[in-house]
Amino acid sequence: MAEALHGGRIWELARELGCPPEEILDFSANLNPFGPPEGVLKVIREALPQALTAYPDTEAPALRRLLCARTGAPDRSLVLGHGGAALLMLALRALAPRRVLVPIPCFQEQPRAIHAAGAVLVPHAMADLRLDLDTLDPAASHCEAVLLTSPHNPTGQSLDHSELMAWIQRHPGRSIIIDEAFIDYTPNQSLLPAILARPRTVVLRSLTKFYAMPGLRVGYACADEATAARMMALQEGWPVGQLDLLAAEAALRDTGFEQRSLENFRADAPGFQQLLMELGLSPLPSAGPYALVKLPAGLTGTRLAAVLRPQGILVRTCSEWPGLGDGYMRLALRSRADQVRLAEALEGVRAALR
Ligand SMILES: Cc1ncc(COP(=O)(O)O)c(C=O)c1O
Repeated sequence: MAEALHGGRIWELARELGCPPEEILDFSANLNPFGPPEGVLKVIREALPQALTAYPDTEAPALRRLLCARTGAPDRSLVLGHGGAALLMLALRALAPRRVLVPIPCFQEQPRAIHAAGAVLVPHAMADLRLDLDTLDPAASHCEAVLLTSPHNPTGQSLDHSELMAWIQRHPGRSIIIDEAFIDYTPNQSLLPAILARPRTVVLRSLTKFYAMPGLRVGYACADEATAARMMALQEGWPVGQLDLLAAEAALRDTGFEQRSLENFRADAPGFQQLLMELGLSPLPSAGPYALVKLPAGLTGTRLAAVLRPQGILVRTCSEWPGLGDGYMRLALRSRADQVRLAEALEGVRAALR
C-alpha cells in the first residue's frame, strides 16, 4: 500500500532502468535543492564507527538546547522523534481524538496516521484548493481535533500567523495539531512559541526537508507540557538514532546554510513558477519548495509521468490523491539545470501542453 502514497521512490525507478539511484532526477520529493549542509556529511563521516557501536544518547542535550533556542519552547515541551510523520502518529495517540477534521487534499501520511490511531478522518474540502479558515468549523463537524498544515502540502498555501492564531482562539477545547514541516521557508508564520500556552496543542517540525536528509529519520514536536509528557511516555526507548541526532545538530548549527538556502529559494522560486507556465502548466502559488500544477485539459499526470520515467525523471502524480486527481501534478523545486532537463524531457509532449 505504501507504493501509491509518496514521492521520492528513486530506488524503484533505478531498479527498473538498471541505473544507479543517483542518476534519477527526482522532482517528486520536496527537498531543499541546496542541501544537505556540508557539516552534516562531515559529522557522519567522523562519527563512525562510534555512532554505530553505542546505543543513541537518549538525552541529546546539545540538540535539545539548539531546538529550544530556535523555537523558544521550554525543554519540557520538546519531543524528538524519527521524523515528522512518526511524530504525527505519536501526537494522535497522545491526544486520542475520535474524529479529526482535516482540510483535503492533505499530506498522505495524515489519513494513515489518523486511522492507525483508531480515529476517523472528517474531510474538509478546500474550495479552489485554498483553505478558508472561516469555513472550518470543528464543532459543526463534531470533531475533537483539527489537523492543519502550513505551508500546506500539496497546495503550497501558507496560513497567515495572526489569522490562524485568531481562528484557534475562536475554537477552544479542541485538540490542534499543526504540521510545520515546511515552515523554514516562511519562518515568520510559525505559531511557535506563542501557541504552547494552549492545552492539547502540538506543532510538528521536520528536519529532513529543509536539510535535505530524508534518508535519516529525525524531526521534533513542540507541545504544551502535559501533551509533550504523554507523547514521550508513549515513545519507544530509542526514538532517534545516533547518526540522526548528530546530523540534526550539525544541520542546525550551520546558520550560514539556512541563510543561503532562504536567499536561493527566494531568488529561484519565481523563475520555477515562470518556467512551469512557459511549459503550459498552471502552478498554484507556493510558499514551499514545490508547486502543484494544473495540467491542460486532456493531459494527465499519468501520461506525463510515463513520458518522463524512461528518461530517469520522477514527478508526483495525483491520480489517487483524494481532493486532486490526474489533472494535477506536483513538482519539486530543483536547480536551474535540472529544470532545463525537465523541460527538454517534456519536448515530446509539447503540442499537448500548449
Ligand atoms: C506536510 C508534511 N509533513 C511531514 C512530512 C514528513 O516529514 P519527515 O520526513 O520528517 O517524516 C512530509 C513529507 O513529505 C510532509 O509533506
